[in-house]
Amino acid sequence: MVSSSGRMPVERVGFVALIFAAVLYLSGGSGGTGGYASARQLDEVQLSLSGTNGAPFPGHILVTGGAGFIGSHATLRLLEDGYAVTIVDNYSRGNRGAIETLRKLAPRHKLRVVDGDLGVTKDLERAFGKHKVDAVIHFAAIAYVGESVSQPLAYYRNVTVNTVGLLEAMKRHDVRKLVYSSTCATYGNPDVLPITEKTPTVPINPYGKSKLYSEDAIRDYAVANKGKFILILVRAISMTLCFLTLCFLTDFDAAILRYFNVFGSDPRGRLGEFPRPELRAMGRISGACFDAALGNIPELVVMGTDFPTRDGTCVRDYVHVTDLVDAHLAVLGHVANPPVLYNVGTGKGVTVREFVNACKRVTGVDVNVREQRESRPGDYAEVFADVSKIRDELGWEARFTDLETSLGHAWAWRHAHKDGY
Ligand SMILES: NC(=O)c1ccc[n+]([C@@H]2O[C@H](COP(=O)([O-])OP(=O)(O)OC[C@H]3O[C@@H](n4cnc5c(N)ncnc54)[C@H](O)[C@@H]3O)[C@@H](O)[C@H]2O)c1
Repeated sequence: MVSSSGRMPVERVGFVALIFAAVLYLSGGSGGTGGYASARQLDEVQLSLSGTNGAPFPGHILVTGGAGFIGSHATLRLLEDGYAVTIVDNYSRGNRGAIETLRKLAPRHKLRVVDGDLGVTKDLERAFGKHKVDAVIHFAAIAYVGESVSQPLAYYRNVTVNTVGLLEAMKRHDVRKLVYSSTCATYGNPDVLPITEKTPTVPINPYGKSKLYSEDAIRDYAVANKGKFILILVRAISMTLCFLTLCFLTDFDAAILRYFNVFGSDPRGRLGEFPRPELRAMGRISGACFDAALGNIPELVVMGTDFPTRDGTCVRDYVHVTDLVDAHLAVLGHVANPPVLYNVGTGKGVTVREFVNACKRVTGVDVNVREQRESRPGDYAEVFADVSKIRDELGWEARFTDLETSLGHAWAWRHAHKDGY
């Protein structure tokens, strides 16, 4: 009842506040279906680190960059497979909407999200601090070749320095498993195709170099943290009765995945790729093609028509994000010391012109294409993967190898989310 002054009596306000707080508490964290969760609510979720419905608990994974394109898809899959996930992301590139979608899809008490920057130690402490982390999947990075040429220091800091900071935090918290997102840009412009894991790494732009230096930091840290047997003296009952016990200090184990060009989106249409409008000029070809098809940009500019390839445009190996996520799940159980290294692609090269024509067919829009002879700074002519190592050792193979089907997944999400999340 409202009082004669038009205000609610104090005891009624207290009661309403109590009910409101109880509702917030009950719906708090993952599994809630209500409105937009605050950063604090997402951070304070108490994770349940046990299996559900009698299933064994596979583990708690820290996903860096979980608000981004690949990180959000990987998080969804981890949650579906029973993992608990903590995401840390500073939203410099990713989408809060992707987090909101994940929150709605996540089982209760299985998703926690830390709004934090990997370059800030106290943010890393918040990410690791609350619940024991079993493994880290490190996606977070800025990742545009052209941007890396004009802002190299930003790349060395964001990609390399932050990876070192992450390793230090893993050491402080005794986390010994890492899967690292690397890139085919570490190979540069190879002389021999397809690219195997033994192809020399000669990156030609700061993005590729910053990733290679991160890989090196991971490999060197692994060398310094190889598992070993040690003898320890255990005192029993009294000082006079002691035992020598042989103990094994576990390894730091890692896997490095060098992705080729990632595209597509969740085939069930729950998540997609939505680069920020301000980043689109630097962005990837599928995003640019969809923007042209939706009328967000007047034309699609193809940069570089003078490469020594079959039609003069760059050749890339386009791997579906769902396949890439499968590769992460496969490698999680095979991290090792020294770190394992795999290419993740389809093994098939597609030219930019072929890609654009497929995009036109999928969207049904005859987008305006302007071809420019001059290429993007830092771009290489032709890359596609030899994927026999990951196939033979992990049994992983790309399933989505039909370009139009994969583009169809991405277009279905983008068409249904014209303004993004
Ligand atoms: N997309 C590709 O084709 C491709 C190819 C090869 C490698 N990769 C690698 O895969 C990873 C993920 O790429 P993506 O396409 O999902 O990119 P994305 O930009 O969609 O996602 C990256 C996420 O990292 C976050 N981030 C960046 N800097 C951060 C920081 N300092 N602290 C916390 N969060 C930070 C961003 O906000 C974003 O959400 C990157 O490491 C990238 O280099 C991507």
